[in-house]
Amino acid sequence: MAKEGNRLDPWVNTYASRAKVMTASEIRSLFAVASRPEVVSLAGGMPFVSALNHDIIGETFSRVIKENGNVALQYGSGQGEVGLRELITELVTLTKVQTHPDDVVITAGSQMAIDLVVRVFCNPHDVVFVESPSYVGALGVFRAYECDVVHVAGDEFGLNPVALAEAITQAVKLGKAPKIIYTIPTFQNPSGLTQDDKRRKQILEIAKKHNILIVEDDPYSLLAFDGTIPRAIRADDAENVVYLGSFSKTIAPGMRVGWAVAPHGIREKLVLASESAMLCPSNLVQLAIGDYLKNQPWLEQVKVFRELYLERRDALLDSMKLHFPVGTTWTVPLGGFYSWITLPEGFDATAMLPRAVNALVAYVPGTGFYADNQGTRNLRLSFCYPEPERIQEGVRRLGDVIRQEIELRDTFGVTGELATQSGDMSAPDVV
Ligand SMILES: Cc1ncc(COP(=O)(O)O)c(C=O)c1O
Repeated sequence: MAKEGNRLDPWVNTYASRAKVMTASEIRSLFAVASRPEVVSLAGGMPFVSALNHDIIGETFSRVIKENGNVALQYGSGQGEVGLRELITELVTLTKVQTHPDDVVITAGSQMAIDLVVRVFCNPHDVVFVESPSYVGALGVFRAYECDVVHVAGDEFGLNPVALAEAITQAVKLGKAPKIIYTIPTFQNPSGLTQDDKRRKQILEIAKKHNILIVEDDPYSLLAFDGTIPRAIRADDAENVVYLGSFSKTIAPGMRVGWAVAPHGIREKLVLASESAMLCPSNLVQLAIGDYLKNQPWLEQVKVFRELYLERRDALLDSMKLHFPVGTTWTVPLGGFYSWITLPEGFDATAMLPRAVNALVAYVPGTGFYADNQGTRNLRLSFCYPEPERIQEGVRRLGDVIRQEIELRDTFGVTGELATQSGDMSAPDVV
C-alpha cells in the first residue's frame, strides 16, 4: 500500500487510530527548554537524586553481580523477582495494605502498571473517571487506549464522591461502560491534595456499588512531611482495588521499578500483558533494590528526602506569599512534590508560558492535566528539584511575569491573544 504521509513523517497516514492521538505532552516539550541552566524549572517532577549516596548504590549493584551474577544477568520471572515481591508486601504495610507476594506484579515503574491495567480493562470509549486535574502520564495512557476520560469535580480533599456518583450515573445513561476510577488519593499529582479517610471510604463504596475498579496510584505517600502516612484505599478492600506503587520517589526513578498489587484474576492478566510488553522486568535492578532494602537504612534515606522536600515546599509557599499578586491562590501539599496554582480570572497559563520562559522560569500549564481543555487558569509548580534559593528566585521571576500579565490585561484586554501575536516572546520548543 502506498504511503501518503508528508516529508516529515511518510507513515503519518498509516498509524493505528490509537497512535494518531499520541501527541507529545507539554511536560515533554518543556524539558528541553527548562533544562537550560539559566532557567529555574518548577516544571518537571524530578526527584532530587543527588541526595542519595551514589557510592552505596554503586556498591550494591557490584555486590549483586559478584554474588548473584548468573541470576542478575539472566531473564527472570514475568511477574517479577519473588524476593523483591516479598519485600514489597512488607513495604506496603506502611500504608496498611496487607497482601501476598503472589498478588504483586513488578513493572517498569508504576507508569507501566497504569498502562497494563488499562490494556487489560478498557475497550475504546470505555469510561475512566479521574480527578480534576489528573496525572498527565495516566491521561496519556487513557488516550492511547482510546478511553473516554471523565474529570470528576473536586474540592480541598480531592475527588468529590457526590460528583463521582453523578458522573457514573450520567455515563450509564449515555450507554457507556464505566470501567475504572483512577485516583491518586495522597499528595496528588498535580494538585498536591490528599483525600481524608472518610472520603476514601465513600469513593470505595461508590466503586463497589457500581462494580467499577479503583486504580489507586500511590507513588508519594511515604513522602508525608510529618511522617503520617495515610491509609490506602486498598487497605480496606482487596477485591475492587488495584494498588500501584513505585520506587521512583523513594529510591530513584532511574531504577524503573514499580508494582501493582492486584486481586488474583487481574494479577494473572497483568502478568500476561507485561510479558507481552517486556518479557520480564530487569533482574539486575530488582536484585539491587532488594539488596538495598535489606542492607541499607533506606527509611532513613526516605526521611532525608522528606525533610529536604519540606524545606523546598516551605520555600515555595513563603515566596508565593511574598511575590504572587492578590487573586492568585495555591494548594498547600502535606507531602509529595507539587502545588497547584490558580491564577486570577481571565488568565491563560499556556499563553503566559513563553513569557515565563523568557523570564527564565518554567512551569507546567494546567491544561496538560485535563483531557478536556480545562485548567486554563492553572499551573503546576514542582518544588522537588531546585534548591530553596532557586525556588525563591523562580517564584520571584514568575511573580513579575504574572504582574506584567495583569498590566497587559489592564491595558489591552485578553492576555492569551497578545501572547500568540507577539513573536519576539515565543519559545518555540514550549507550546
Ligand atoms: C501519580 C503518578 N503516577 C505514576 C507516576 C510514574 O512513576 P514511575 O513510572 O516512575 O513509577 C508518576 C510520576 O511522576 C506519578 O506522579
